[in-house]
Amino acid sequence: MTSLQGRDFLALEDFTPEEIVYLLDLAHDVKLERYEGVDQRRYNGKNLLMLFEMGSTRTRCAFETSGCDLGMGTTYLSNSHFGKKETVKDSMRVFSSMYAAVAYRGPSHAHALEMAESCSVPFINGYTDHQHPTQMLADAMTLQELWGRDGLAGRTLCFIGRGGEVNSFSYAVMCAMLGMNFVYVTSFMEFEEALSRLSSAQREMYRQYVPEGALPNHWEARMPAAKREIVDELYARHHPECSFVETDDLDAVKGVDVFATENWGFFTDPAPTWLPGIVRFRPYQVNRELLERTGNPDIVVLHMLPATHNCDHEAGKELANIVASEDPELAEFLRKGFEVTDEVFESQASVIFREAENRQHTIKAVLRAVLG
Ligand code: CP
Repeated sequence: MTSLQGRDFLALEDFTPEEIVYLLDLAHDVKLERYEGVDQRRYNGKNLLMLFEMGSTRTRCAFETSGCDLGMGTTYLSNSHFGKKETVKDSMRVFSSMYAAVAYRGPSHAHALEMAESCSVPFINGYTDHQHPTQMLADAMTLQELWGRDGLAGRTLCFIGRGGEVNSFSYAVMCAMLGMNFVYVTSFMEFEEALSRLSSAQREMYRQYVPEGALPNHWEARMPAAKREIVDELYARHHPECSFVETDDLDAVKGVDVFATENWGFFTDPAPTWLPGIVRFRPYQVNRELLERTGNPDIVVLHMLPATHNCDHEAGKELANIVASEDPELAEFLRKGFEVTDEVFESQASVIFREAENRQHTIKAVLRAVLG
């Protein structure tokens, strides 16, 4: 019988495929319990710490509501002495004396591993630069709801757009563990090429923010070689019958069963710095034409959120107004959506809000499993 009691939850590849399926089974059970109004408070008197060094909406809310549903006291800690006035080890010793589990979000997985090492209660990864494993459970659960418990095997998931370091890898690992083919479709365009496609006025605008020789933030798109190696090894170990492809060729979307995408990450930077990235990723937008290109009438669309499906962002509107006279087509694009159009976001193909809800049920399942 599977038991994950006392285990950390740092990355999917730390578990066997059977253990991941066990967590998914538990997530379906806890979802049903919640819908049936079953009292889930089995951890009265225990506490859950959410130690978040980066912003979050869904992950934080999912941990907090799951903790509450399970009868736990919860603390959200985002501004403390942690990482400043005392050693990680000392902080973790204190947390371990007060909490039954620690959920963490932060920029460094190496740091998370160090913390987990000093933590004597289960330590759960709510996103680091290695992986977003609780998100992957929610996505797998959502697909199981559509296709059945054993319905993922042999299907093809396409992650399209800017995957960056974390999410293309996260989906690849999920697919390798659960027997799905994985296609990562992203731009291989070099920076100079993207820059050369801007008008001289756009280039000038861009150069006011990013000096010669520097790349804009969020430029990385391809999966790092070290992560590709982990994925290759996982496929070889668990599902050698499945395939893993990374390409910039949009023809690769033919026949896929599900798209996943994520926001291009521009919004924390000044709008003119987005221009080369927009040139680069525009062909990879999830829109009606892309869905038709799959030839699959039952295509499904996932998005972990937050999404830029309509540009209700002031900086986007401002940039659109600036470029409108010389490049009305770009202005039109900037006023709509980036990685996904509003039309697709709101379409029958989209299961995005079910996916978001399942963050709660899967995180609750992880808590139940590691707390025992
Ligand atoms: N999908 C996701 O992790 O959302 P948050 O960043 O809002 O937690």
